[in-house]
Amino acid sequence: MDNLINDIDIISEEEKTESCETVKVSVNTNTGKSRKLYIESYGCQMNFSDSEIVSSIMAENGFDTTSNFAEADVVFLNTCSIREKAETTVRRRLAQFNTIKKKKPEMLIGVLGCMAERLKAKLLDEEKIVDLVAGPDAYRDLPGLVSQVDEGQKAVNTFLSREETYADISPVRLNSNGVTAFISIMRGCDNMCSFCVVPFTRGRERSRDPYSIVKEAQDLFDKGYKEVTLLGQNVDSYKWSPEANNKVKLEKSEVSEIINFANLIEMVAQVDPKLRVRFSTSHPKDITDEVLYTMKKYDNICKYIHLPVQSGNSRILEMMNRTYDREWYINRVDAIRSILGDECGISSDMITGFCSETEEEHQDTLTLMDYVQYDFSYMFYYSERPGTLAEKKYEDDIPLDIKKRRLAEIITKQHETSFSRNRLDLGKTHEVLIEGTSKRSDEQLQGRNSANKVIIFDGEGHKKGDYVHVLVNDCNHATLFGKIVNTESK
Ligand code: SAH
Ligand code: SF4
Ligand code: F3S
Repeated sequence: MDNLINDIDIISEEEKTESCETVKVSVNTNTGKSRKLYIESYGCQMNFSDSEIVSSIMAENGFDTTSNFAEADVVFLNTCSIREKAETTVRRRLAQFNTIKKKKPEMLIGVLGCMAERLKAKLLDEEKIVDLVAGPDAYRDLPGLVSQVDEGQKAVNTFLSREETYADISPVRLNSNGVTAFISIMRGCDNMCSFCVVPFTRGRERSRDPYSIVKEAQDLFDKGYKEVTLLGQNVDSYKWSPEANNKVKLEKSEVSEIINFANLIEMVAQVDPKLRVRFSTSHPKDITDEVLYTMKKYDNICKYIHLPVQSGNSRILEMMNRTYDREWYINRVDAIRSILGDECGISSDMITGFCSETEEEHQDTLTLMDYVQYDFSYMFYYSERPGTLAEKKYEDDIPLDIKKRRLAEIITKQHETSFSRNRLDLGKTHEVLIEGTSKRSDEQLQGRNSANKVIIFDGEGHKKGDYVHVLVNDCNHATLFGKIVNTESK
């Protein structure tokens, strides 16, 4: 059973687009700079997006990025703290770098991101090979911190800001397919879900100037990108007004009134009808009908919502401090179905074995899954995190084998549901944005439809960045397969 879970975990890790413990490595940017930076990123899309900001800041200060750590002068691990496993992975990786550093003592090792923020200077004591620790709001200080290490000191900055959004920094696109890109629209989180470490590692919620977001989307489109994903821990609470955000000194903003998330996606959708707009993550307590109607109004706003439920039981949701109950969640799903129809993709995050969860309460998660018919879910068993409300208030009393058994049950349910949702697409034609060749064969291309489903098909002379129409004729639980039927699209 353990192996089963691990295997499934790994499969879903690969499929995941967020909140995972997958790793991304920096690419080569050979522009002749004097020193080389290697970055490995763990965790969610926000972290991957932050690594692009870090690369940009370091590039301004004489660093090219490299995909080969052997030639690096500076190694950064941009880390995640969301579950214990995420931190264990990073510690294991640091142990591997220890061996390399013995041969190359001048190589600077820095820990960035959420684990840096959570452990602060303690990390220097715990992991002797670490020279530098920088939290998510301290990246502008990285060149200064590197100089401090060059001068022979250890360097730490874990100051959390109420204003920093890196709005003026143009990210260096790492691991880019040249078609899809992330744009951070806000930072931090004010929600205090009792299980979650993010409010402590990322600080207070703040929204980025919408003008700088639209400009970034326009720049990407001008460079040939065809899809942007707007990122935030709770995008529906995006809110920007010149007065509230006047501490962010940017070039003069064109925006004068209050901008909410519905307004923002409309502004980005208007960049060009050929630019797809996605976003993540939506919070069930904040997603409004106004957002859903705006999605409906624009063809290029993708019909896909990641709406994490965490649990299907109202008592557990209350203990999790999610501030909605099962009925509220169902009401939001009903609103999505009635405004956007059955074809809108819905995905979720779920946690099994939260403190005191009974078998009946676990069953409520399974019945909610039946009701919603999620296309996809990221599923985890509860991992107690130091300093969180749940750690302080509740006992982590569900034995690991029960947590894992419940996880296996929801994974099995999700695979069945994904398969049956995919079968509904058989015989239908979808508009697909081609993102590259399929992992299995260079002859085949792959892309996603509006609902975020991966579709694989014979290339027939098309290339990444093209929009094509694909008739779906086969599927499994994870992927649709089809054939191009008509190429005049967008
Ligand atoms: N802001 C997003 C989630 C960010 S964290 C939201 O509110 O939905 C991504 C996911 O990791 C969470 O949705 C949750 O399912 C999971 N997660 C967070 N803390 C966890 C913990 N302590 N144990 C297990 N899973 C956790
Ligand atoms: Fe964590 Fe909750 Fe904030 Fe998501 S909304 S980042 S789960 S505190
Ligand atoms: Fe993301 Fe992990 Fe931090 S999920 S916000 S990198 S704790």
